[in-house]
Amino acid sequence: MQDKTFLMIPGPTPVPESVMLEVAKHPIGHRSSEFSKILENVYQNLKYVFRTKNDVFVYTASGTGAMCAALENLINEGDHVLSLVLGNFGNRWVKIAQSRGAIVEKIEVETGAVIDPEVLRKRLAEDTEKKIKIVTLTQSETSTGAANDIKTLCSIIREHGALSVVDGVTSVCAMECHPDEWDIDVLVSGSQKGFMIPPGLAFLTANERAWKVYEECKHPSFYWDWKAYKKSVNENSTPFTPAVNLITGLDKALEMIKKEGIDEMNARHKRHCLALRKAIKAIGLELVVKEDKNASCAITSILPPEGISVPDIRSTMKKDFDIVVANGQNALKDKIFRMGTLGFVCDRDLISAIGALEATLYKLGYNFELGKGVATVIKELKE
Ligand SMILES: Cc1ncc(COP(=O)(O)O)c(C=O)c1O
Repeated sequence: MQDKTFLMIPGPTPVPESVMLEVAKHPIGHRSSEFSKILENVYQNLKYVFRTKNDVFVYTASGTGAMCAALENLINEGDHVLSLVLGNFGNRWVKIAQSRGAIVEKIEVETGAVIDPEVLRKRLAEDTEKKIKIVTLTQSETSTGAANDIKTLCSIIREHGALSVVDGVTSVCAMECHPDEWDIDVLVSGSQKGFMIPPGLAFLTANERAWKVYEECKHPSFYWDWKAYKKSVNENSTPFTPAVNLITGLDKALEMIKKEGIDEMNARHKRHCLALRKAIKAIGLELVVKEDKNASCAITSILPPEGISVPDIRSTMKKDFDIVVANGQNALKDKIFRMGTLGFVCDRDLISAIGALEATLYKLGYNFELGKGVATVIKELKE
């Protein structure tokens, strides 16, 4: 059947019809007073969603653009950067920092694990000369489904004095994140994730400490330049031609988020992820992230049962049920599959996704108690 696809990948995510209708309208001039009014709302509401008093910049880019906008305005050649790596996206910080000539050291963990705060504390304590200028980290590592304890990690980084630069691409909206209270110096995110709009916008917020480091950056980026974006936020405008229709869609989506409440939205994601994890275990499958406390509330990584391949699971889910689940990335390709519960997802979606997964596994010959996953998810959601 056409037009029934349900995206359970970690972005792009499903988009509400009311947002799509905004996006579908004729573009309006980006220097018009009408658009300026929309931007005023958007800038205000982004502060609410990001839980910050600081400005939130809107870039026309994917999430990686905002990651570049962070490091390319902070790093000088030869600066020392410590990157806390849980997977693919933690490594993206490494590559961006290296592209600016930084000397990058990594603390890396095995697939599904998170950073041990004591390991970070020890490494930073050894840095008595305070050479480490920036620590990069990821709140929700989409390639594995693991989530760092950002609050604790950023407080340790603050004690040392380095800047914390956090990837919140799949966590903002889905998980609690309090940049002002948790000493996060720079936080970035992207539109096609929890924000419930199509790909194309990226967000960045930076505090006063980060601005001081920006002032010392010898060659700040032109397109991502914080100063240009700050000036534009003050004037309810944008430095360059923005993705006008995505911003009108974002305006609508932010109203929806405000109506639900950001705390409630975070709670919904947590509830869905925990119910999904329980259902997966009830079906007899193994999770990549073993402990609930280390699990992302945006994405769940799952190992296929013995003898059933990830491509078969993914293609049957798509062909029979029009549900798209993600493959693993890089070394995890065809070894795991990932189910996203990010953004515009309700209980009905989750129950049908587990039902579809059970039907898929049943069709592919997996021997299990049919219905146990659905029963579990229904019970968990009720609680
Ligand atoms: C945690 C995380 N960081 C960064 C990115 C990169 O975002 P994009 O693909 O929008 O550039 C992604 C994309 O999935 C992500 O999940």
